Amino acid sequence: MKVCVVGTGYVGLTTGVSLAFLGHEVTCIDLDQSKVDMLRAGHTPIYEPGMDELLAEAAPNLHFTTSYTEGVPGADVVFVAVQTPSSSDGSPDLRYLRAAAESVAQNLAHTFTVVVNKSTVPIGSGNWVDAILRESFAQREDRPENTEFAVASNPEFLREGNAIHDTLFPDRIVIGSDNPRSLEVLNQLYRPIINQTFTAPSFSPRPEDIGAVPLVSTDLASAELIKYAANAFLALKISYANEIGQLAGKVGADITEVARGIGLDQRIGSRFLQAGVGWGGSCFGKDTAALITTAAEYNYEMPIVRAARDVNTRQRAIAVERLQDELRILKGRKIGLLGIAFKPNTDDLRDSPSLDIANLLIARGARVRLHDPIAANRFRAEQPELAPFVSDTLDGVFEDADAVVLVTEWAQYLELDWSKFVGLMRTPILLDGRHVLDNDRMNRLGYRYLSMAG
Ligand code: UGA
Repeated sequence: MKVCVVGTGYVGLTTGVSLAFLGHEVTCIDLDQSKVDMLRAGHTPIYEPGMDELLAEAAPNLHFTTSYTEGVPGADVVFVAVQTPSSSDGSPDLRYLRAAAESVAQNLAHTFTVVVNKSTVPIGSGNWVDAILRESFAQREDRPENTEFAVASNPEFLREGNAIHDTLFPDRIVIGSDNPRSLEVLNQLYRPIINQTFTAPSFSPRPEDIGAVPLVSTDLASAELIKYAANAFLALKISYANEIGQLAGKVGADITEVARGIGLDQRIGSRFLQAGVGWGGSCFGKDTAALITTAAEYNYEMPIVRAARDVNTRQRAIAVERLQDELRILKGRKIGLLGIAFKPNTDDLRDSPSLDIANLLIARGARVRLHDPIAANRFRAEQPELAPFVSDTLDGVFEDADAVVLVTEWAQYLELDWSKFVGLMRTPILLDGRHVLDNDRMNRLGYRYLSMAG
């Protein structure tokens, strides 16, 4: 099929490259010429394991351009995957989406095109995009004959760092439209994934237990709500583990054991119960805020979602309190933070717990040193005022440190020769912000191991 993808961020690029890999003919549009140049040269502007390889494999079916006229006319499906950043009141800023929809409408020319909202948009945006498309299309003087289109929602459930795996081997595919023909087109588009008929890339093997991928084919509003309900549920699952984790610390229980014990109940499930400094990233914070804002438009409160957010914010403060309880005085202390990215295998810094923890420590007079194997340079560029606190070496983090906090569980940190660094510290306090290090081993090596739970 002929596919066009507008926006080459995480979602757009992964969608475009994956569909091209599956054999569809894909044109990716981005207004940023430098991004397009980079992609044409075979390099991805984002850090995502396997993406460069997939880009190379899919290259014969892929075309990158800044021009809508090269991608939209004749497309069976147009994905709109532009950014929807949070406005100051928590609602998503839809300016880019409006502009993209207008440009798509100016270029539609096909017997039937499905325009898919791939950006995470507020519930009801499908109708809004539909209205923009119809209005802009009606204003065209060069309106082509026999051109029909309809809007659909196809939410994304990929995790950064696992984007290719999550796209090719998803738990489910959700498509929503009030137009049955759109659902049929999308069903066709995703057949190779639904039936798992493609040859898996060598760097992302097919999971052994995967069968046919369930397809949830529903109406527009339901598909839009599924995305928010899924992310908010995952966010509150983590916050629940963190809330129980604090109580575990008080009563002398081990949160890792408790999470395992409850997670083995199949009704609960073991994933997303990892307690620690809490969630970050571009999705959970933004989507929980947007859900609350949407509900407020209906005079409806969402206390559970609100609590998930509050608990998450509190975890970051608790990390600092744990250090203060131990060191008594934070002023003048040197504290090393291992990890700046919001999670491993990404250089994404949005809403990173590390950033909040660093700022809280700095506000209390501590001297902070930050390290990250991948995100350090991006951090320097995005947070220039904190750039002097970044260390490129681990020695720079541990040397004379009064405490070190493991904030992001990069493999490099888990595999570290921890025995090498303990001697460099002034006081060997190690706060395991992700509950991933072995308490007994760390104590044996000479650290004073602290977990988030106390
Ligand atoms: C999340 C969802 O997992 C995806 O399904 C969704 O498509 C995506 O948002 C989106 O809306 O675009 P992502 O933010 O990339 O994906 O990353 P996750 O792996 O979900 O991690 C989010 C945060 O939760 C990270 O800071 C991670 O460290 C934290 N986390 C995760 C925990 O603290 N504990 C856990 O048990 C799991």
